[in-house]
Amino acid sequence: MRAIQGVLESGWLTLGPKTLEFERIFAEASDCKYGVAASNCTASLFLGLYGLEVEKKSLVVIPANTFAATASAVRFYGAEPIFCDVASNGNVDVEKLGEILEKEENVDCLIPVHLYGFPCDMKEITRLSRKYGLKIIEDCAQAQGASFNGRKVGSFWRCKLLQFLRNKKHYDWRRWNVTDKPRSS
Ligand SMILES: Cc1ncc(COP(=O)(O)O)c(C=O)c1O
Repeated sequence: MRAIQGVLESGWLTLGPKTLEFERIFAEASDCKYGVAASNCTASLFLGLYGLEVEKKSLVVIPANTFAATASAVRFYGAEPIFCDVASNGNVDVEKLGEILEKEENVDCLIPVHLYGFPCDMKEITRLSRKYGLKIIEDCAQAQGASFNGRKVGSFWRCKLLQFLRNKKHYDWRRWNVTDKPRSS
């Protein structure tokens, strides 16, 4: 309560020292160098696409099973979502992903969504992204703190999005965090 009172009395209700502290602690907990707090996930997806300079009018592969915002942010940014079928755990099917990338020439970015707390197969997704020279934005909205092969989801590429939403794993306030640059890079 004292911490909350401190914020209220500081005059900084949105940006300010506590936000900077939150960004630093959250990035650290996510094995990333930097963190940027944003208003919501749709804004974070847009910022991710913008920050990585994803080609306008290019194709962005997203899983067929995700929240609508994954697709609408891509459309709003000015690229075109292309849907990849999912495996039995709800995450992108990497075999189908390989088939799409073999066929489509205009893909610039992949957005794997770590759904229901399950990490995507980041080993295969990273391999495919290298093979085809693609950017990755990890959507960790539903999987903050989850790991793949001992490594935190979101630390595999330069941009990940994390969300605190009441119906997700963490019961916290509604705020997104865009992190950049895995610690290991
Ligand atoms: C995987 C995923 N992506 C994007 C969103 C959109 O988040 P927001 O409503 O904060 O913009 C959600 C929200 O539930 C989500 O679960």
